[in-house]
Amino acid sequence: MSIDLDATERMGAEELRDLQLSRLQWTLRHAYDNVPFYRASFDSAGVHPEDCRTLADLAAFPFTTKHDLRDNYPFGMFAVPQSQVRRIHASSGTTGKPTVVGYTEDDLDTWAGVVARSIRAAGGRPGDKVHIAYGYGLFTGGLGAHYGAEKLGCTVIPVSGGMTARQVQLITDFRPEVIMVTPSYLLTLIDEFERAGLDPRASSLRVAILGAEPWTDQMRTEIEQRLNVDAVDIYGLSEVMGPGVAQECVETKDGPHIWEDHFYPEVIDPVDEHVLPAGERGELLFTSLTKQAMPIIRYRTRDLTRLLPGTARPGMRRMEKVTGRSDDMIILRGVNLFPTQIEEIVLRTDGLAAHFQLVLSKKDRMDQLTVRVEARAETSARQRDVAAAALAGAVKDGVGVNVAVAVLDPDTLPRSVGKLQRVVDRRAE
Ligand code: DLL
Repeated sequence: MSIDLDATERMGAEELRDLQLSRLQWTLRHAYDNVPFYRASFDSAGVHPEDCRTLADLAAFPFTTKHDLRDNYPFGMFAVPQSQVRRIHASSGTTGKPTVVGYTEDDLDTWAGVVARSIRAAGGRPGDKVHIAYGYGLFTGGLGAHYGAEKLGCTVIPVSGGMTARQVQLITDFRPEVIMVTPSYLLTLIDEFERAGLDPRASSLRVAILGAEPWTDQMRTEIEQRLNVDAVDIYGLSEVMGPGVAQECVETKDGPHIWEDHFYPEVIDPVDEHVLPAGERGELLFTSLTKQAMPIIRYRTRDLTRLLPGTARPGMRRMEKVTGRSDDMIILRGVNLFPTQIEEIVLRTDGLAAHFQLVLSKKDRMDQLTVRVEARAETSARQRDVAAAALAGAVKDGVGVNVAVAVLDPDTLPRSVGKLQRVVDRRAE
């Protein structure tokens, strides 16, 4: 299949590095000249935009954190007059003030361009109908997907999250080829197809573009088998742009390619904060290369991954699928654990469904983790006991901790319509 790639998608690595350097130099200068926060942080680190002569020089510049964005709430990070800001988004955050981001007209065009490119890399084509079930509003998912799909030349069905039965009805009636949704909510939609007596494999959907939360290759297999689609990963974050910072290509399904003409990645050791060599796991940072309204320098995403060479787009690097954030890490009796490690094991265990929740509690002053997981509809009471023991045993062997397991009836755990909250912390209760 021959497809029209953007010129920058076809660039060789060397040509791309030249483009990145000139864009990086522009960004550092733009941030320093127009955002008092960056001027102060560069000055106190003793660096100046002129000091960046190679891409490696970026390592001397200070990081930007979510705290910095909150301290400059709401518009202190903006580098253009408010009259040039065409749109605002914000992420709610679990504590404190939201993080606010802004876009100029050119920024919105860039963003639509990278999302269009992402949908195409996922296997979507002009003329396809795209069902968007990411939330619309201040969250970047809905509107980000929307304008990208329109830019590619697709027909957009802007459903947003919620009203699950109606979503299934609309998919059945409108026959979209592509769906953009969180993986956890897509599972809920697939369940709803079955509840309505419809075969999800017979739906019109061919491609599912899934992101906004971590999900595993085991979850990919579960979704692809039950829905008969190609399920591919879309990555992004509001501070850097929104969805479409990186996208997995359907022909390789080997982790998202970073759209490096707009977003420059680094990976650091989160503890000693040094840049790590290619291939080593650590915390992902991004520096925007073209953003006007809110340039962002060395943003600490808290997402854990590593950089890998490009495959389907050889000039652009890939990131390993993000399976954990430093914030999601559970430390249980000295062992580090991510919810995705439990997801992998749940989906490998016979008799268990993909719906689970992790509950942290205190028992005799010791932290305890209970995996609450739904049985599949056909699982008998005896098989549930076998599954519970198998899951606890596999977690002990694979992760090295003892967990309690409660196998529940189907449809008993709360469902989310957007990002799923996997962990419930009851230790303070
Ligand atoms: O979640 C943007 C987005 C919308 C991405 C729709 C993809 C699809 P935020 O609300 O700012 O933005 O949350 C960003 O979500 O730092 C990751 O921790 C997580 N995340 C996003 N995509 C993925 C993914 C949107 N594909 C935070 N895999 C990021 C794992 C992801 N985690």
